[in-house]
Amino acid sequence: MSRLAKSLSYVGLTVALGLVVEGHAEEAGNFGYGQTATAEQIAGWDIDVRPDGMGLPPGGATPEDGEMLYEEKCASCHGSFGEGVGRYPVLAGGEGTLTEARPEKTVGSFWPYASTLWDYIHRAMPFTVPESLTDEEVYATTAYVLYLNDLIEYDFELTQENLADIEMPNKDGFFFDDRPDVKARRCMKNCKKAGSIQITSEPEVSEDADSGADEVVAVEQPAEGQAVYQQACAVCHAAGIGEAPIPGDTAAWSPRLALGRGTLIESALNGKGIMPAKGGQSQLTDVAVIAAVDHIISLSAKQ
Ligand code: HEC
Ligand code: HEC
Repeated sequence: MSRLAKSLSYVGLTVALGLVVEGHAEEAGNFGYGQTATAEQIAGWDIDVRPDGMGLPPGGATPEDGEMLYEEKCASCHGSFGEGVGRYPVLAGGEGTLTEARPEKTVGSFWPYASTLWDYIHRAMPFTVPESLTDEEVYATTAYVLYLNDLIEYDFELTQENLADIEMPNKDGFFFDDRPDVKARRCMKNCKKAGSIQITSEPEVSEDADSGADEVVAVEQPAEGQAVYQQACAVCHAAGIGEAPIPGDTAAWSPRLALGRGTLIESALNGKGIMPAKGGQSQLTDVAVIAAVDHIISLSAKQ
């Protein structure tokens, strides 16, 4: 069982026991179960190290300190020089390959921060026994991997204070994508109605995308009758449910067509008999419903 699964099932177990043995958990919340995590429990989860070094424990080590340890605990998979054994990840080299067809993404060629290396080794390596290294051992192996990438000297002492200052070659390779059509902002007001958004092959970006406003919205297209029909009307009309006249059934439609397009549109917008207004999809724009009516008419009118 993975460490995560183990700790999760442990949490599950304590919760269950708490319920059975005590009847209610200590400091029960709204639902009468669960308990406030202790500082010690939180510390067990709160192990991330940030790019500015926040979260690193005191300590330090040189590549020299890490060499034997790396050989013993890491080289079997990652190779003595970080070249990777078999299909295990390559940890060193690859500089300048990121723009090639087959980029070699390594700690040296790809990673933007040294802090991630400390964090990753600390939480995930060695692969089979994660979180088994002491903080000093993590400093030592981190230093050694940086050394394999020619980023620090063999006798350089990597410490809590200087780790964040290590400049990774690809630190500028990560940036917020500034293309206007890649932002996924949640709309909070004046939002498009779902039924009114049409997906087209020609992307259109609203004017204000350039004016600094971050929101990029699909531009309202003239509704495509067939699509609206499929989405909102076919559920009844395609199968004749509730005697809904089936498009193309000219016998059923000719008396209705005789009422005139305007009347049919009125019926579709406002409802008729058991047909609810807009087929029950009140989010549809009038334009969308009218397009669907026209679609039905085009299928049903005598040729
Ligand atoms: C049993 C094989 C094995 C051993 C031993 C091992 N690793 Fe790994 N290592 C892996 C695998 C597999 C991955 C990829 C894991 C993934 O992507 O989920 C990995 C990923 C990594 C990465 C990230 C590589 C990248 O670019 O994404 C680093 C850094 C790393 N290991 C360092 C170490 C260090 C340091 C040690 C020794 C303390 C070590 N590993 C021991 C198998 C191993
Ligand atoms: C819940 C089933 C249902 C849905 C959904 C539905 N319809 Fe209808 N529709 C009917 C029924 C039943 C009738 C016949 C009503 C009557 O004549 O009493 C009807 C009649 C019509 C008519 C003829 C109106 C007239 O005046 O004779 C049009 C036009 C029409 N539907 C268009 C639409 C469109 C467009 C949609 C989708 C936006 C739609 N319907 C969705 C059940 C439905």
